[in-house]
Amino acid sequence: MNTLTKTSTGSKAPKARISERIAKVSPSATLAIDAKAKKMKEDGIDMVLFGAGEPDFPTPTHIVDAAVEACRNTANHRYTPTPGLADLREAIVAKTKRDSNYDISVPQVLVTNGGKHAIANSFAVLLDPGDEVLLPAPYWTTYPESIALAGGVPKIIPTGADTGFKVTAEMLEAAATEETKVLLMVSPSNPTGAVYTREELLEIGQLALERGWWVVTDEIYEHLIYDDLERVSLPVLVEGLQDRCIIVNGVAKTYAMTGWRVGWMIGPKDVISAAGNLQSHETSNVANVSQRAAIAALRGSLDDVVLMREAFDRRRKLIVKMLNDINHVECLMPQGAFYAFPSLEAFFSSNLAGRTPSSTLDIADIVLEEAKVAFVPGEAFGAPGYARFSYATSDEEIIKGIERLGNLLDTAKF
Ligand SMILES: Cc1ncc(COP(=O)(O)O)c(C=O)c1O
Repeated sequence: MNTLTKTSTGSKAPKARISERIAKVSPSATLAIDAKAKKMKEDGIDMVLFGAGEPDFPTPTHIVDAAVEACRNTANHRYTPTPGLADLREAIVAKTKRDSNYDISVPQVLVTNGGKHAIANSFAVLLDPGDEVLLPAPYWTTYPESIALAGGVPKIIPTGADTGFKVTAEMLEAAATEETKVLLMVSPSNPTGAVYTREELLEIGQLALERGWWVVTDEIYEHLIYDDLERVSLPVLVEGLQDRCIIVNGVAKTYAMTGWRVGWMIGPKDVISAAGNLQSHETSNVANVSQRAAIAALRGSLDDVVLMREAFDRRRKLIVKMLNDINHVECLMPQGAFYAFPSLEAFFSSNLAGRTPSSTLDIADIVLEEAKVAFVPGEAFGAPGYARFSYATSDEEIIKGIERLGNLLDTAKF
């Protein structure tokens, strides 16, 4: 195949092997550190891993049973309609009413390959080149890449521990420009665990409505909210926003089903139909058997979810206390999801194991090498100085890992 092209001077310059668009994509930092740690573990090193963002519980038995049964039915060896099985879309409609008191219809639902795919679809369908997306930081590492891949521009709005890592309507207003088309919201948040209150969301949603912004709201951690805080869904709260709002959701975090790859997007019918069109040429339907498992999850009881939430809640308190007990480490109590997000900034320029870290990336590397503990540095979330520790792991691992971390950080010289 001829991969040479003529330049204006007539000489031939080789075409880039990888397109410019894709070459710009950063590899997921969360996966990179996890891969390095897992490799060390494979090599026989006793590692403690706080990197991965997935529940450590197995998928509940009744869901697995439904999938096993589905495997044996040859009807499930075939394609399903691109937007998903009718039964699953109906189960999503019923679940959305049950959990959010939001009335939607089947054509407003597209079943996707996980929540991540729903995010990619949403930005692909909404953004034209140059359109801006208001993106509060710390942000989940996939959002800016997904926005850029769709031709959009992430407009990052930094937040800190002083506001509980939450944006306010004023901050959004100050960051918006003529090019702003979309606001990305996620509550509970990955990586901070922040949960917005009804009042905060009302103000933000009303601003979006007034300004004509679209809102993409990621509700994937909706069932992992602690301390009896209220779960609020933006399009239910703000009348009129339904026509310019996409909800992203999925079974991964709620039902310990990260590997099954079932998510969905809910939005106005024209947007969902356009996303379905796109998906029909890219991935077609989600695996039939996985869809059957998701139906069992959504139609089943939430008893297992309650048990998992109780375990996460206990671990949340344990890890936050242990982190705050380490000198120079400060950690807010997260209100949702399963991540602790402490500041390690005090260790910049300290002498740690003979090195002088100037970023959390450096600290992560030192901690990985010296304490055999893996976490994700805040740079991956647009929040240098911070670190994300997933507490979706056993109490014993939390105690072992944070003790090791504390022992190492205690040796820092300032
Ligand atoms: C905030 C957030 N949204 C969406 C997802 C995507 O979940 P999945 O694609 O596994 O359904 C994740 C996974 O880590 C997440 O943290």
